[in-house]
Amino acid sequence: MTPFAAFPRSRPRRLRRTPWIRAMVAEFALSPRDLILPVFILEGQGQREAVASMPGVERLSVDLLVGVAEEAASLGIPALALFPVTPSERKSDDGREAWNEDNLVCRALRAIRRAVPEIGLITDVALDPYTSHGQDGLIRDGRILNDETIEALCRQALCQAAAGCDIVAPSDMMDGRIGALRSALDEQGFQDTILLSYAAKYASAFYGPFRDAVGSGRSLGRADKKTYQMDPANTAEALREVAADLAEAADMVMVKPGLPYLDIIRRVKETYDVPTFAYQVSGEYAVIKAAAAQGWIDGDAAMMETLLAFKRAGADGILTYAAIDIARRLREGG
Ligand code: PBG
Repeated sequence: MTPFAAFPRSRPRRLRRTPWIRAMVAEFALSPRDLILPVFILEGQGQREAVASMPGVERLSVDLLVGVAEEAASLGIPALALFPVTPSERKSDDGREAWNEDNLVCRALRAIRRAVPEIGLITDVALDPYTSHGQDGLIRDGRILNDETIEALCRQALCQAAAGCDIVAPSDMMDGRIGALRSALDEQGFQDTILLSYAAKYASAFYGPFRDAVGSGRSLGRADKKTYQMDPANTAEALREVAADLAEAADMVMVKPGLPYLDIIRRVKETYDVPTFAYQVSGEYAVIKAAAAQGWIDGDAAMMETLLAFKRAGADGILTYAAIDIARRLREGG
C-alpha cells in the first residue's frame, strides 16, 4: 500500500496552481553560479567573427574578450573556459605552439587575470587547436601516441599555469595524463592549480560546430577520435575512467557531451559524489538555436529546460555557450 492519499483527496495539481506555489515546491533551480562560459579567442586587436554554426557565439580578440569576462563576472558566472583559434601558420605536426609561453591562450590568461581578477580561468589541455592534423595527440604511423602525448600535455599545462590559469582541464582522453599532470604541476610549484578532468568524454557527433569555431575540423578532415574518446555505447567504462582519474588526483570531473549523457552524469555523481561538471557542447547548443531560428521551438525556454535537466541529473556546473544569455535572463527573474 502506498503511504500517500489517493485521488480525489490527493490532487497533485494543487501544488501547480500558481507561480508562487510552484516556486515553493521546486526541487531544483538554475543559478548563474552553475554556468561556465566557453570562449573562442582570436589573434589581433578589435577582432570579432561570428561562428556560423553557433548563432550568437563570436570569436573575439583578447582586448574584446576582456569585456566579456567583465560582463560574465558581473552576472555571477564563476569561470570562463578558453579555447584558442590558432592561425594555420602556427600549427605543426607536434603542436608545439601549445607550449609557447606567448601563445594566444597565455596572452588571454594574463590580460583577463589583470583586468578581471575575480573570475576563474579554465584552460583546455589537448593539442588539437595546435596540430596540423587536428588530433588531440601526437601521431606516428597513423596512430595516436599515448605516453609521448602526455609529455607534450605536461608542457602545455605548465605553460598555462605559469600564465595564471586556475584550472587546467585535460580534454585529450590519453590514459594516465591526470597523474602525470599533477606531478608536473606539483614539481613546478603549482600545487594550487586545480585539475578538472574531462574524464568521460565520448567520441561524439555533437562537436562539429566547435571544430568549425576553432578551425580543427578542417585539419581533421574525415578522421575521427574513436581510439581515445569513448564509445557512446558504454556506461561502465565511464565509471572506470572517472575512478582512474580520481585515483590520479583529479579534483573535479566532467562528462561530455551533456544532454545525450545525463545517465552518465547521474551515475558518476551517485557513485563518487565528487564535483561533477557537464559540457553542453557546441552541437547541443546549435541544435536548439537552429530549431529556434526556424520558429520551431522557443529557444530560450528550451535552453533553460535543458540546463535544468543537467542539474536534475546531478551536475554541479555546466559549461554552456548560452551562459551569458541565461545568466541575464535569470537575473531578470525569467
Ligand atoms: C578538444 C575539445 C573539443 C571540445 C572541447 N575540447 C572537441 C573535440 O574533442 O574534438 C568540444 C566542445 C564542443 O563541442 O563544444 N580537445
